Amino acid sequence: MSKEIRFFNVQQFGRDFGTLNLNPGKKVYGERLIQHAGKEYRTWDIYRSKIAAAIEQGLQNFPFKANTKILYLGAGNGTTVSHFSDVCDQGQIFAVEFSARAVVDLFMLAKQRENIIPLLNDANKPQDYLAIVPEVDVIYQDIAQRSQVDILNKNADIFLKDKGYIFLMVKARSIDVSMDPKNVFKVVYAQLQNKYKILEQLRLDPYEKDHMCIVAQKV
Ligand SMILES: C[S@@+](CC[C@H](N)C(=O)[O-])C[C@H]1O[C@@H](n2cnc3c(N)ncnc32)[C@H](O)[C@@H]1O
Repeated sequence: MSKEIRFFNVQQFGRDFGTLNLNPGKKVYGERLIQHAGKEYRTWDIYRSKIAAAIEQGLQNFPFKANTKILYLGAGNGTTVSHFSDVCDQGQIFAVEFSARAVVDLFMLAKQRENIIPLLNDANKPQDYLAIVPEVDVIYQDIAQRSQVDILNKNADIFLKDKGYIFLMVKARSIDVSMDPKNVFKVVYAQLQNKYKILEQLRLDPYEKDHMCIVAQKV
């Protein structure tokens, strides 16, 4: 049974979420395809996509619309990128990833989905993609690095529009393996609070252990 969910191009089917498939008939990572009201949806795996886990945990802010431009840092093989590509069907997703192997998958995906622009770059060096990435509405960052906040700030200063949104997926163990994750989250929260308006924070356990999704806005 399907349930109306108020997020653009997203639908709920029982316990699963799905995004309207931009490329009907095609799967990206083995997800299920669901036909509903003459449209096809791809199930959005809450164990493989942190924003899907955040939706499951009650996410309130979902500023993703048809034309949204996203700078996605730490795109991996494109699992979550593919769902943003469904949602922001007329938008652009600039997918930055520094693993050449993962970028090959992103290029394969981009062949079938014109709104994905893969970039083989280090998110620590935003000046290297300054000529390609325009001002964006959202920065989504999923990078398991000690310097997660630094990377975010460097990119937000250059690319994020005023009142633009930040989605930071914080992996506590990458920042400090010996500190209680709760304290790591407090430190990150305090760092972000100096610079952005924090809108919400959601623990992603049990779907992603010791992770927090922080949503903020550039003021
Ligand atoms: C958790 S995985 C990403 C999963 C992906 N966001 C998803 O939901 O489908 C983190 C990715 O960040 C990449 N990464 C780590 N540091 C990076 C950096 N400085 N610049 C670009 N990519 C980086 C890694 O290679 C890895 O693919």
